Amino acid sequence: MEIPEEQRENWGTRGGFVLAAVGSAVGLGNLWGFPYKLYSYGGGAFLIPYILAMFCIGIPMLILEFSLGHMTQRAAPDAFGRANKRLEFVGWWGIILGFVIVTYYPVILAYCFSFIYYSIESIVTGKSLPWAGEGIQGVENAKIFFNETYLGLKEGVETGQIRTNILIPLVIAWIAMYFCIFKGVKLVGKIVWLTVPLPFIMLIVLTIRGLTLEGSMKGLVYYLDPVWSELSKPTTWRFAFGQVFFSLSLAFGVMVTYASFLHRKSDINNNAAIIGISDFATSFVAGIAIFATLGGMSYATMQAGNSVEVKDVVAGGPGLTFVAFPYALAQLPAAAWWSLVFFFTLVTLGIDSAFSITESVLAGIVDKTGWKRCIVLPVMSLVGLVFGLIYVTEGGLNWLGTIDAFINGTWGIAFLGLLECVVLGWLYRLDTLRHHANERSDWHSGRWWNFAIRIFIPIVLGTLFLWSLFDDVTNAEGFIKTPSGEWIVPNCVGLIVVGISPIIAILMSLIKSPLRTGQGKQAEFKYPTHAEAGGIGTTSFLLSVIGLLLVIWVLYFGKENLVLIPLFFGIAGIVISYYVLEKHDVGDEKPSLLSRWAGIISTLDISVAISIILIGMTNKINEKEIVYRTADKLSGVSYVILGVVVLIIVGGLGWCFYRAITLASKDQEPEAVDDDLQID
Ligand code: PFF
Repeated sequence: MEIPEEQRENWGTRGGFVLAAVGSAVGLGNLWGFPYKLYSYGGGAFLIPYILAMFCIGIPMLILEFSLGHMTQRAAPDAFGRANKRLEFVGWWGIILGFVIVTYYPVILAYCFSFIYYSIESIVTGKSLPWAGEGIQGVENAKIFFNETYLGLKEGVETGQIRTNILIPLVIAWIAMYFCIFKGVKLVGKIVWLTVPLPFIMLIVLTIRGLTLEGSMKGLVYYLDPVWSELSKPTTWRFAFGQVFFSLSLAFGVMVTYASFLHRKSDINNNAAIIGISDFATSFVAGIAIFATLGGMSYATMQAGNSVEVKDVVAGGPGLTFVAFPYALAQLPAAAWWSLVFFFTLVTLGIDSAFSITESVLAGIVDKTGWKRCIVLPVMSLVGLVFGLIYVTEGGLNWLGTIDAFINGTWGIAFLGLLECVVLGWLYRLDTLRHHANERSDWHSGRWWNFAIRIFIPIVLGTLFLWSLFDDVTNAEGFIKTPSGEWIVPNCVGLIVVGISPIIAILMSLIKSPLRTGQGKQAEFKYPTHAEAGGIGTTSFLLSVIGLLLVIWVLYFGKENLVLIPLFFGIAGIVISYYVLEKHDVGDEKPSLLSRWAGIISTLDISVAISIILIGMTNKINEKEIVYRTADKLSGVSYVILGVVVLIIVGGLGWCFYRAITLASKDQEPEAVDDDLQID
């Protein structure tokens, strides 16, 4: 279904779009999140769920979001609304959670600005870095410097005073973001030519420097040696999947919005693959840079007679970036310079991710209301900054961690991703999107993509969601109130945020848009009103409902050993409804509503059944236990893992570029779509 070109701004070049999307995906999450998650959840073993998630979920979902944005030429809420009027709230939900991220993400940039300042100060004055110290005492110093001197974190203080030393760089971060996007995406498309390659170059420099340090291999042992037992822990899988979502900026409407500014003829599938693989490559290399340097630090402290092991300094999240790494750098020659390079890398990595979320919220509002960008952006930035004040208080980092955990937790990103796939896969003619992407792409996605969006991704995410819910419910005690009966305010606020965001999303979608009747309306796919395929669809519905009732019965009466029965009904229901949609959602035909709902109900039924099985299998495992590596050299298995990863990255990117270049050099349109489901 071709949609007439609308007068919408565009990126100018393919490179502009790809870089902007890579810029959004590659961010603090790659340097701050991925390495410590990999380390904590099985080293090299973590790569299995991660690569699976990247290729089976991440890239297909990127194609989904790109196609939707590109086809409708609208930011997320309106894009979903044009697919189906009742779905607009899904887009708003993502935008609202995205807005929550944009209140705290720049705060981390603010920390980086401050550390840049300290590094420059140390270079200029010739004094050592303010957190420098020797041996294990040095680790303590770095902790005290970040937590107490810089953040002003105090025991028992929930919020406390606003810290001007964080507020000033926060204002600078917002001003920088404002100037990057105030002129629209054309300018963004140019800025990213700087903000994307620069951190890559600096990461490579940091990696080379890390690898050439004495002792670096010992650091890599921590990073790469696999601890296979970690794969049996639910958390490992949850973190791997959650990290892929966060890292690819999926489900927050960013990728839908960015694709809406893409030129009509631009490629979709190949771009999605390039972006996904580049993001993975950056995370992987960032991990090598971090752990090689930590290995170097460990060796240097051992030589100085006050040995500090890698495991003594690695901590999750901000701890790694603002305590362990600054400490490690301080142990090495030319510490202040390297510290400057490191924090500058972080700023250039993070800034394009931060403004991509701002852009997605902005475009959502502008597309809905028709208000002027030049008015909405400053107001929005100011509101974002004001909400962000909570994170620059003395208790700010706790707030940041809590709210981040909620957004990336059970009810956040993965649930939204699940919803996205389910509604577009079962309630919309999915082939419209696949054809739209295939018609203009360097390579075509086959029916495997429909299978991924309709069945594989929803079941995997549904299972993870239910598994997490089970975990949350079991650990609920002491979550919002302390044993002594006091409210735990950040957790309450987090719950309120995730609780009210769908309500606000629904309200937003109910507001009438003055622009809804305007151009681009053609994008909405009109279903034929005749020729329902009944019969077999009704059978699938009955099977799925029986399956669901049975699984509820299994849960309620604790009959876990009979769980295979509802699983069987669910599989039968989903197979039939999938067949009905593939066969009858074409041309003038229209599958019955029952067959569509059969798919959704069966997904739920199968997910519940699988989570019951998994919970049964894994509840004897001690989640908290971390296995430490002790070897000095990388094992043979680690080298194999390293080789496979390099092969995936180089081979994958090589193939994508080969497809793009051969097509461009032939100067031809992509081949005609080869399957039979042409719409219109
Ligand atoms: N992908 C970014 C990162 O890895 O740091 C973070 C992010 C950007 C998340 C944009 C969500 C988003 F919408």
